[in-house]
Amino acid sequence: MNKEPKISVIGVGYVGLCTAVGLASKGYHVYASDIDSEKIAKINKGIPPFFEPGLQEKLAESIKKSNLEGLVNQTDKAIQQTGFTYVAVGTPSKPDGSIDLKYIKSAAKNIGKALKHKNNYHITIIKSTVVPGTTQNVVLPLLERESKKTCGKDFGLCMNPEFLRQGSAFQDTLNTDRVVIGSYDKKSGDKLEDLYKDFYSPRIPPIIRTTLSTAELIKYASNAMLATKISFINTIANICEQIPGADVKVIAQAMGLDKRIGSLFLDAGLGYGGSCFPKDVKALIACAKAFGYDSKLLESAEEVNKHQPLKAVQFAKKELKNLNGKKIAILGLAFKPDTDDMREARVIPIINQLIAEGASVTAYDPVAKQTAYAIFQDKIQYASSALECLKGADCCILTTEWPEFTKLKPANFSDNMKTPILIDGRRIFNPEEFQKKLKFIAIGLGQ
Ligand code: UGA
Repeated sequence: MNKEPKISVIGVGYVGLCTAVGLASKGYHVYASDIDSEKIAKINKGIPPFFEPGLQEKLAESIKKSNLEGLVNQTDKAIQQTGFTYVAVGTPSKPDGSIDLKYIKSAAKNIGKALKHKNNYHITIIKSTVVPGTTQNVVLPLLERESKKTCGKDFGLCMNPEFLRQGSAFQDTLNTDRVVIGSYDKKSGDKLEDLYKDFYSPRIPPIIRTTLSTAELIKYASNAMLATKISFINTIANICEQIPGADVKVIAQAMGLDKRIGSLFLDAGLGYGGSCFPKDVKALIACAKAFGYDSKLLESAEEVNKHQPLKAVQFAKKELKNLNGKKIAILGLAFKPDTDDMREARVIPIINQLIAEGASVTAYDPVAKQTAYAIFQDKIQYASSALECLKGADCCILTTEWPEFTKLKPANFSDNMKTPILIDGRRIFNPEEFQKKLKFIAIGLGQ
């Protein structure tokens, strides 16, 4: 017997699919609807359309138990059959940094149309990352206009941001530090709170109840804080590089022991990538600007992040003088470990710059080769192991801290490369051990 009510999810990217599979794994019957028929065909066969640890097994199990059903663009069925509908469609960036609401608007319109002929109370939950005011000023009017009904009386509306990280998205769905519920009215907030109390029982995380706009801003403020923390430690790293003997890793470790600072997200490196931080920082800057406020701090965080990856190329140039005709080995393509996603991956500007300078690039990543091929095609070579990638290279740049790279020893570089120059862009190697055996350069390490 499935739990009641049934739940639907519109948009099955990382957030939507992890939410759908999470709910299905807890015994809810879930309909997952998306406009992409290929994605839905895969989901209905139990195959996730992207790589995410732990998801495949639970998705296959949910499909087998008939707890999860993929629908191709059937919002009406998704609404009629369920009591809650999560909206987890994309909110891509526009050229000015603001977010494009076309998928949100289309979802809201379709939900509104379906609500028009639905008799039971229904709650729409915005899970997509949207700037403050979107749920109240864009979603709500569309729901009311299309349904000819009144929000707070005939149907409910909540904003419930997600904080999951790619690479541990499914685990984060099952275990969260907090749940944030912004609600238009008390009834819809109470009902969503009850759903989460059941979902997380017996270990219920803190649940923050608030307004729609505050919930929207909590998401942006959290991501902007983490992005700023990374740009802050990268700034300290850049200072360290000018001071012989200084090491940002030790500094971060000491700083992190101060409970007011905390140790997480203090890893200096080539900067932040992915589908969230770069986009969300830009969107928050654009949103503040629209209200007449210049977010100088966030603009600086973004500026630091823009320059950070190209430092790897500058290091390589300093050692090799001229990159033309040089063979550069790149270890890591994904924007971080445990994902094949390369959106805003720091390696992209690095490879583009290397190619522009005439270098020949060979890259290796445990899972992101296909994603990389879609970006670079035959402009670079693809190795099938780290050692193969290093063969005959003049310089190696490590860009993603995959666990398998941490096992590499200095001899793996010196035995395979033409000139053993290693640039550690993610600070995974021990400088003392590596400096003895090869030319070792690392972010945040004074030379
Ligand atoms: C991020 C947030 O961590 C999630 O809480 C949020 O829900 C998500 O965005 C989202 O908005 O959907 P994600 O983009 O998956 O998650 O990845 P992170 O683990 O946060 O890493 C982002 C980038 O920062 C990566 O490129 C990573 O290499 C970099 N990073 C992270 C650092 O350079 N240093 C650090 O100390 C930590």
